[in-house]
Amino acid sequence: MSFKPMEASSGKFRTAIIVLLVGGILGWVYQALNPPPPKLCGSPGGPPITGPRIKLRDGRFLAYKEHGVPKHTAKYKVIFVHGFGSCRHEVSIAASKAAEELRVHFVSFDRQGYGESDPDPNRSIRSTALDIEELGDQLGLGSKFYVLGFSMGGQIVWGCLKYIPHRLAGVGLIAPVVNYWWPGFPASLSAEAYNLQFPEDQWALWVAHHAPWLVYWWNTQTWFPYSSVIAGRANMSRQDKEIISKLLPGKKMNKEYVTQQGLFESLHRDTMVGFGKWEFDPMDISNPFPNGEGSVHLWHGVEDGLVPVTLQCYIAGKLPWIHYHEVPEGGHLFAHAEDMKEVILKTVLTGEK
Ligand SMILES: *[C@@H]1O[C@H](CO)[C@@H](O)[C@H](O)[C@H]1NC(C)=O
Ligand SMILES: *[C@@H]1O[C@H](CO)[C@@H](O)[C@H](O)[C@H]1NC(C)=O
Repeated sequence: MSFKPMEASSGKFRTAIIVLLVGGILGWVYQALNPPPPKLCGSPGGPPITGPRIKLRDGRFLAYKEHGVPKHTAKYKVIFVHGFGSCRHEVSIAASKAAEELRVHFVSFDRQGYGESDPDPNRSIRSTALDIEELGDQLGLGSKFYVLGFSMGGQIVWGCLKYIPHRLAGVGLIAPVVNYWWPGFPASLSAEAYNLQFPEDQWALWVAHHAPWLVYWWNTQTWFPYSSVIAGRANMSRQDKEIISKLLPGKKMNKEYVTQQGLFESLHRDTMVGFGKWEFDPMDISNPFPNGEGSVHLWHGVEDGLVPVTLQCYIAGKLPWIHYHEVPEGGHLFAHAEDMKEVILKTVLTGEK
């Protein structure tokens, strides 16, 4: 008889323990999956605002930087779109003899969530193209301007070709990153290129595409290797390594700045947008310059260890209006070499070379 209450209370005790355990695990999982809120620039305790910014249509601020010759004396106006893990300070093509000779004014900007630009939880390829249009308008770059994009910035340039072609004077895509899930690729070709990637990158790309809710945890956990690019172990070619050691000594300086608002809205969202499901396929874009009033050029290194040249070549083959240039010894970073800066600027801006 006297055991009954005892049994009941031990049952309750067990239930309480289970509830606590499950609650604890759920809490831990929730915390592991959900990134901390970004540290907004200019907010209390957040990083300082050190450069100019424009206010965009939805109230977000976009930080930019001007390079090259002053706007009012320039012959050409170029908006430069930076790659993954970079920022408005990294526009090495603007510091070149060719840029000075041709009198080029450059505007770069921190993409959303990078550096001093507000994060955009609704970020997409399209919203970034619209940000570029607004940047051009607010800075008075005229009805048409040039756009150059490097690496993941190249994905944004595809967005400009799709959404703001009427604002473009000419376009250069420099080693633009491909998305293996663009439907225009034959499945066997993209699978072959995908399978060449490091296993950890195949997984990281898979997560970015199929399970974006897992991206934060995936790229911050320490159980197994995550994206080689985020981990700083990217597959660099021989030429890339040379360029890094000779030409990019200042690269580390911006490392803190780039992700100062947090990893999630900068690096992680970049992979979710870039490798997620796109609203369009670049291989379906129609010629932005049907009357030859401008041109679109794409450069890709044959030895690019990050973006398979086979896929780039396939895209170029599907778009007869693209001028495709393969760089024989080029890795991913060939555009940092002085001679390539000249080739790229002269070709895109003057149609020569
Ligand atoms: C994101 O988009 C939704 C729907 O368009 C909108 O309601 C929301 O305010 C946006 N969020 C931000 C932070 O801009
Ligand atoms: C690394 O890059 C080289 C070209 O530089 C390429 O041949 C190779 O397939 C790449 N490896 C991986 C794992 O991506």
